[in-house]
Amino acid sequence: MSAAVGIALTGSGSATPSRTVSNDELSLWLDTSDGWIRSRTGIAARRVATLEDSLESLASQAAREAMDQAGWTPDQVELILLATSSPEDLFGSAPAVQAALGATNAVAFDLTAACSGFLFALITGAQYIRAGTYRRVLVVGADMLSRWVDWQDRRTCVLFGDGAGAMAMEAAPHGWEGLLAMAMETDGRRRHCLTLSHHTTPQNLHEQLQAGSGGFGSITMDGQEVYKFAVQQVPLVLTRVLQQAGITPEQLDWLLLHQANERILAAVAQRLGIPASKVLSNLQHYGNTSAATIPLMLHGAVSTGGIQPGHLIASSGFGAGLSWGAALLRWGVT
Ligand code: UT7
Repeated sequence: MSAAVGIALTGSGSATPSRTVSNDELSLWLDTSDGWIRSRTGIAARRVATLEDSLESLASQAAREAMDQAGWTPDQVELILLATSSPEDLFGSAPAVQAALGATNAVAFDLTAACSGFLFALITGAQYIRAGTYRRVLVVGADMLSRWVDWQDRRTCVLFGDGAGAMAMEAAPHGWEGLLAMAMETDGRRRHCLTLSHHTTPQNLHEQLQAGSGGFGSITMDGQEVYKFAVQQVPLVLTRVLQQAGITPEQLDWLLLHQANERILAAVAQRLGIPASKVLSNLQHYGNTSAATIPLMLHGAVSTGGIQPGHLIASSGFGAGLSWGAALLRWGVT
């Protein structure tokens, strides 16, 4: 049997709506304050989609940038995975991204795992490359939770923002490995901690047939439970992937976590003994963009030259499900 194919991470991209909403602006209608939001979360502002924005166009913009950075033409893309919990079509928004890119040879589908979605999609895409099924995969994380928060609920609406990020991933030159270890977990028994549920109302079609109709409500979250879960499970899953790869925390260049709360970033880094200078954060500007946080942060750090080819990055996503996972990445190819 031939050896499994290696993975190379060769492009990144991102896109956000242009409208910025500061903490002070939120307090125009909410009983909240800049001081509370900054000190409890590290968030100062977030981007909010207005009526001109669309999830599909942000996702396509991010994907195009990643594809261009990798040096691929649209016809070379073979798989597009769109991690999102807020598609514009419940049948899937990924085909719209495929069409916008003109990636006519690709297959495109959505993957839903809330804030762990990008990481789960990255790991899923890597399996197709390892198996030799596809050679070039675009992994996109995009969410517009501004459409799904209750803007009167100060416990949730202050946390989220909108955005998209993408990564180009391909079969590696011989001997190169960009995905050194990975892990994914879910615990459905704790799904009630963070939900966006369908509310079903009865529809009487005739005397003996009652079908359901309805729509989705808004996000509900037990913030303290999710916080405790994150600071407990994320260090454990990161330790597991580091051990799988035989890497120590000192060898890491960057810690790239799902951007939910600055205090979670600090607690996880402290537990692993990783200095604050290696912890990537853009929470201040974007808040929690759900499936987009990891690729949005990654692209920011690649663009400013923080992340360099060959750098070793430990990444972890966590959120509704409850779901969580980790991956040990080596950026670019040297
Ligand atoms: O991406 C998915 C993963 N999600 C997460 O990781 C979220 C994890 N959880 C958290 O980040 C934190 O739990 C929150 C930031 C959501 C909340 O912070 P906290 O320190 O756990 O606050 P709390 O829920 O214990 O609330 C403390 C107080 C409460 O008032 P009382 O009951 O003590 O009088 C809240 O009503 O703060 C109040 N509060 C607010 N006050 C001003 C809650 N939200 C706000 C607000 N502004 N926006």
